[in-house]
Amino acid sequence: MRVTVNQIREMKQKGEKITMITAYDYTTAKVVDEVGIPLILVGDSLGMVVLGYDSTIPVTMDVMLHHTKAVVRGAKNTMVVGDMPFMTYHLSVEDALRNAGRFIQEAGCQAVKLEGGVTVADKVRRIVECGIPVMGHIGLTPQSIHAFGGFKVQGKTPEAASRLLEDARALEKAGVFAIVLETVPAPLAALITRQVGVPTIGIGAGIGCDGQVQVVHDVLGSYSDFVPKHAKQYAKLAEVIKNALTEYFNEVKSGNFPTEKQSFPMDESILAGLK
Ligand code: KIV
Repeated sequence: MRVTVNQIREMKQKGEKITMITAYDYTTAKVVDEVGIPLILVGDSLGMVVLGYDSTIPVTMDVMLHHTKAVVRGAKNTMVVGDMPFMTYHLSVEDALRNAGRFIQEAGCQAVKLEGGVTVADKVRRIVECGIPVMGHIGLTPQSIHAFGGFKVQGKTPEAASRLLEDARALEKAGVFAIVLETVPAPLAALITRQVGVPTIGIGAGIGCDGQVQVVHDVLGSYSDFVPKHAKQYAKLAEVIKNALTEYFNEVKSGNFPTEKQSFPMDESILAGLK
């Protein structure tokens, strides 16, 4: 049975920690599903870790739908959240609703995520009213990277901290089922977590959140361009992949691959008839 938004809400009430991880393809989603992680985010971070852009801004609806479909095919029990890309929910409530609907109807995921607090609350409310669960995202919202002037910790001044709390409350009032808190001081994230009734899911926001989200490439150590401070590498896949490919390359060059084991035999008499 697939995880539901009600189960995610109940986890906060029961004090059960919530785990979310990104995935962008069928194979990874299948493994995440097998592990039993309740939430997959098809994050627009794929623009950086899969497509090689230097921000998430170039990511489009078509790209997100393509990857979300693959993840949904791989994840049978995990709840899949599609990340709404830059400029797909900013222009109007109608536009936001239409694009959120495409994630659910065309890609088959169960919820959408969008960045922002007070300023997107009207869009969130309308999407939720139409039966689409929405996850909020405040703090360091990467689609606003140019306004922030870099990947910086948010909410450090009294004004910024109270704005973040206001954003969280506005999102809760608009009906989100959870809120991502990205790169905010741990004590502030813990305070917001206590002040809102919906689960908070932190990334670089400390242990006081109701759950944690990480980018799968960071956790597996497969993206070596940049390792964020908030990430812990549970494996060093880039090294494993490099060693395996070097061995393959060397074996092809030296004539040691393929062997009989990887080859298909043929009836000698048919071969003789060809000569
Ligand atoms: O796109 C993404 O992966 C995200 C997470 C970092 C929360 O938004």
